[in-house]
Amino acid sequence: MSDEILLDQPTIQRRVVELAAEIRRDYAPDAPVHFVAVLKGAFMFLSDLMRHMTGPVTCDFIAVSSYGGGTQSSGEVRLLKDLDRGLEGRDVVIVEDIVDTGLTLSYLQEILRARDPRSLRTACLLSKPSRRKVDVPVDYIGFTIEDRFVVGYGLDFDEQHRNLPYISVIGGTS
Ligand code: IMP
Ligand code: MG
Repeated sequence: MSDEILLDQPTIQRRVVELAAEIRRDYAPDAPVHFVAVLKGAFMFLSDLMRHMTGPVTCDFIAVSSYGGGTQSSGEVRLLKDLDRGLEGRDVVIVEDIVDTGLTLSYLQEILRARDPRSLRTACLLSKPSRRKVDVPVDYIGFTIEDRFVVGYGLDFDEQHRNLPYISVIGGTS
């Protein structure tokens, strides 16, 4: 794989601290915020985001199918693992690694909204706006990036490279 670092570790860490503060500012200081992280890509982002959140925070996990083994979205989203608990009356923030076509997020927002949360917002570490197929609302975006396939900090190519503490570009456009 190419070793071009797009976002280094200090850059990511600084932004995640800012995002945690932004999220908390939108709720009361003592309001419980419930993060729903999308497996597997968002696990590292969630971990850093949670450790910088002040006030009460809980989390749960959901898994959906994404790219299979390639870099092209199949366009079809499937629920692989559901949440452990319901969302009724909670202030929910979906925590996702990247919004690309937007198909995954719009599917998730639809199924989670149907569970009657008090509020539903979305935080994405990365956004590739040039690839959007559906206009999906994202309340918190870490970084807007070009149309390149990236790995690291939770994001994979064929399950590899999730462990990198930075975000790196894998050869060519996606
Ligand atoms: P979307 O449904 O096209 O928005 O795709 C979102 C999902 O595709 C993300 O949750 C990622 O799992 C995956 N994805 C999109 N772009 C990339 C990338 O550049 N690197 C790794 N995974 C990606
Ligand atoms: Mg993902």
